[in-house]
Amino acid sequence: RIVYVNGAYVPEEEATVSIFDRGFLFADAVYEVCAILDGKICEFEGHVERLIRSLGELDMGMPVSKEELLEIHRELIKRNNVEQGAIYLQITRGTADRDFVYKKDMKQTLVMFTQAKGLTEEKAGIRVVSAPDIRWGRRDIKTVQLLASSMCKTMAKAAGKDDAWLVQDGFVTEGSSSNAYIVTKDGKIVTRNLSTSILHGITRKAILRLAAELDMEIEERPFTIAEAQDAAEAFFTAATAFVYPVIEIDGVELNGGKPGPVAKRLNEVYIEESR
Ligand code: PDD
Repeated sequence: RIVYVNGAYVPEEEATVSIFDRGFLFADAVYEVCAILDGKICEFEGHVERLIRSLGELDMGMPVSKEELLEIHRELIKRNNVEQGAIYLQITRGTADRDFVYKKDMKQTLVMFTQAKGLTEEKAGIRVVSAPDIRWGRRDIKTVQLLASSMCKTMAKAAGKDDAWLVQDGFVTEGSSSNAYIVTKDGKIVTRNLSTSILHGITRKAILRLAAELDMEIEERPFTIAEAQDAAEAFFTAATAFVYPVIEIDGVELNGGKPGPVAKRLNEVYIEESR
């Protein structure tokens, strides 16, 4: 695989970053993941806008222009011949001797790589378990500080399930790397309102727009695990999963353990629109 590091396209074995990079020492870095469908980047504008916002919240700017960033995305997809999959980018504050205090305007590190994988197969649905949301308080910033999510997802796998839905003060915040939704028995789509408690998903935004266009009713508010277990169906969204059904929550099956119609419909419409 050819990867990108600070201006160079190199084989992955040759790509290096300093051990003093603040991304490595302090998780002082942000990232984005875009889906690739038919060799094309999905939702580039949305992801880059969120990237600029994440950087701004951490007192950083963009190391390259938006246009250059798009060009690097395209070049990397071309060099790796990716038809379907993901493209990952990470920007760190840069490299300096270890010090909690950072300097303004350091030379940032930019790395990017692709991951080829199928995105459009039939979705069987996943089983989730709830877990306390122990992440930091600025989940609206897409930092690489992902240890809590990584531990929760690993715990879910060890328990024979697929993912964790995170709970704070009795309410679901989001999935370990996705936004969480339920569909009530009277057909309303419920997902947590935007705040610093969740990542403002780019897929979430598109799906809520599509749902409104399809005349589906939407409620942006917190919900509990008990309400989710009693729902008609549940699903999650993320850039490389699109709309993915959830068929079990803490051992309780939804929709008879089968993907629900709303998730299926939204997924189809979203993929169709993205192509
Ligand atoms: N994760 N919430 C969290 C905590 C996430 O990590 C993600 C995405 C989302 C969905 O956001 P979007 O629709 O913009 O992808 C919500 C990416 C895909 C990842 O970490 O791989």
